[in-house]
Amino acid sequence: MDQKIAEIGSQLQKEFEAVKSAEELEQLRIKYMGRKGVVNDLVKSIPTLPVEQRKTAGQLINKLKNDINGKLNNKKPAEESVTTKKKGAGLFDVTLPGKSIPLGNKHPLVKTLDEIKEIFGKLGFEVEYGREIELEYYNFDALNIPANHASRVDFDTFYISDKALLRSQTSTVQIRTMEKRKPPIRIIAPGKVFRPDTVDARHSFMFHQMEGLIVDETVNFGDLKAVLHLFAKAYFGSDIKMRFRPSFFPFTEPSAEVDISCSICKGKGCSVCSYSGWVEILGAGMVDPNVFKAVGYDEEKYTGFAFGMGVERITMLKYGINDVRLFFENDIRFLSQFK
Ligand code: DAH
Repeated sequence: MDQKIAEIGSQLQKEFEAVKSAEELEQLRIKYMGRKGVVNDLVKSIPTLPVEQRKTAGQLINKLKNDINGKLNNKKPAEESVTTKKKGAGLFDVTLPGKSIPLGNKHPLVKTLDEIKEIFGKLGFEVEYGREIELEYYNFDALNIPANHASRVDFDTFYISDKALLRSQTSTVQIRTMEKRKPPIRIIAPGKVFRPDTVDARHSFMFHQMEGLIVDETVNFGDLKAVLHLFAKAYFGSDIKMRFRPSFFPFTEPSAEVDISCSICKGKGCSVCSYSGWVEILGAGMVDPNVFKAVGYDEEKYTGFAFGMGVERITMLKYGINDVRLFFENDIRFLSQFK
């Protein structure tokens, strides 16, 4: 019996060494450990042995069993990846690639708004949100645009009732913020604005603006230029150029319109910049003393600057998008490009 077990042991060793697949391994398992396998046969033969040999035989068989189990377990992992593709192998291939779950991505305008907030956040600006439904007072009167002022037509507006409207500019948030806070103030205010424009590649009845406002005791036009330059370089890249053109807004004096060198043609001239090499991205200026009066600030003591930029506009320039309607049509082929 002892000899028989020893022979089985060495035979087994050879057979295990020759194993190349999980299937072959499984066959070996059945051969040795199966119900009608070699080990069971040995166990069954114990009662046929002389009594004094049974104990040692039992021990040897147990040792053989452990040996086989150890070999079976050791072999397994190495074979797994090769074999599980075979049907019925019953093993799980941990090296197979997983199923990819399609992830969403941010809307390009949200992406831009996030970037703007981050850039201005580093410059110490806090974010304020006003209201989309506003009173005429905040959209016009307090911004130095009285009822009969000619410039009201520039801010063409959806009225809801006599005095309530959908805000046509985020400048409203300047007033809302100054009413509730004392200087120093350093805020940006991103959000939706509404104007009864006919929709085309460049116009939409709803779009986004981002207002900025700083109020303190010694703010000057140089600060305005510095902040806007820093922003443009951070958002568009360090080779962007910026120029200020004198302009008029009722709530700022002096006022400027600000252009950047066309990011599409790099200033060489293309259809987006009407072959001028420049595109307007925002209006800005020093806060008009009348605006400070409207919110009860001492206009002798405080100065400030404000700016308002078009969010769709700067997004289109950055990514070379030529139609504003793409932002609002929810075409997944467009949206999925902004990872
Ligand atoms: N609210 C203006 C518009 O919608 C943009 C603007 C111009 C905002 C000058 C400002 C500013 O804060 O100072 O056209």
